[in-house]
Amino acid sequence: MNFYIETYGCQMNVADSELVTSLLITAGHNVVNDIDQAELILFNTCSVRAHAEDRVLGRISNEKHRKKANPKIQIGVLGCMAQRMGKRLLDSKIGVDFVIGVDQYDRIPALLSAKDLQPHLLDFDSTQIYQDLMPVHQSKTCGFVTIMRGCNNYCSYCIVPHVRGRERSRPWQDVLNDVKKAGQDGLLDITLLGQNVNSYLDNEVDFPELLKRLETVDNIARMRFITSHPKDLSDSLIDVMASSKRICEHIHLPMQSGNNRILKEMNRKYTIEHYQSLIHKLRHAVPNVAITTDIIAGYPSETDTEFEDTISAMKDIGFDYAFCFKYSSREGTDAAMRTDQIPEAIRLKRLQKMIDLQREITLAKFRAQIGKEVEVYIESMSKKNKDQVSGKTRDFKIAVLKGSESEIGSLKKATVIGATAGTLICQ
Ligand code: 5AD
Ligand code: SF4
Repeated sequence: MNFYIETYGCQMNVADSELVTSLLITAGHNVVNDIDQAELILFNTCSVRAHAEDRVLGRISNEKHRKKANPKIQIGVLGCMAQRMGKRLLDSKIGVDFVIGVDQYDRIPALLSAKDLQPHLLDFDSTQIYQDLMPVHQSKTCGFVTIMRGCNNYCSYCIVPHVRGRERSRPWQDVLNDVKKAGQDGLLDITLLGQNVNSYLDNEVDFPELLKRLETVDNIARMRFITSHPKDLSDSLIDVMASSKRICEHIHLPMQSGNNRILKEMNRKYTIEHYQSLIHKLRHAVPNVAITTDIIAGYPSETDTEFEDTISAMKDIGFDYAFCFKYSSREGTDAAMRTDQIPEAIRLKRLQKMIDLQREITLAKFRAQIGKEVEVYIESMSKKNKDQVSGKTRDFKIAVLKGSESEIGSLKKATVIGATAGTLICQ
């Protein structure tokens, strides 16, 4: 059967879609990039904010007409929304045939060959790590390798631990094999994935040790990891980052808020002073390290003054980039139960202020690169100019430069000659 898979949300979902692709191909199915060719349409979904869910619901509903034209077409929902909403998705009349939870993907082939589609398979499996499955990489340049699944942190706003279950680390040898395979496939840039990679543990192998063991794999030029939790970022990780030639000069370290009371309410388990000290250590040990972050505006009970602490922290630290969100209430989380929710209009105003500020900071950071020599990993043709190629620097900045399709997959030295708040222009 021809299948098509559409992925929403974080890189973990991208990696999970690659797993599902591998499973279905092994079972004799055929992946297609054109939805018109598909008899099986899969949506791998995200629940982290209400907006993400609404978008996908609209999107699935839009595809309903296909089933009228061809009753053989099946639509399945995977991922966090499948896990969170389960049967409600089947009942929603948007044309969903089946719903599969995040720990049950290995049951999809059997489900498809069964005469009656079971309505939903959503149990958590606290041991599921999809052992011995080699993902089919969608990209020819950048590979994502899952090193752990689930999350134990229960940040009070976050749905992830509720939909992805408890934390499990994959055996380090399996991770090593996946990275080797990616290297053999010619992917030079590997991102290790986990909700909190700093708490990776497989017997005696912790995260810094895992990085050391991956350092020897042939072909890989760049290694990155997401996401780091500030409460678990250790000195030994910073040491490994400083001494490794492959680990890129970039870290994504979600701050979430610049105010200690709000951080406590969020159950983040660090103070802003601790966070600032990590930034200081990182910048000292890894010169020119790029630091990106996630920040939430309008967490329940956040006052104007507390929000201003976030603004001050953003100014003090000067992130290379910040993913700014307005707080979104997620049913089932502790924060959603609170009665002191911030009105939507205020959340929006605060969000806009963060976005405007970060835009200025990002632009200044990008402009400061002008005149420098950077290494660009060419990943695709530029969307805006057909004589240009687009790629990333080691410190995770998008860069464009003159080039042609044959250069995709190569590393190029270039000089930065201009910058916008999102792109380095190089030659
Ligand atoms: N509302 C807004 N942002 C959220 N995030 C997680 N949960 C929520 C929520 N309920 C953000 C956090 C996290 C990023 C992936 O999404 O900043 O780091
Ligand atoms: Fe959510 Fe916190 Fe876990 Fe990240 S660490 S996935 S924000 S609960």
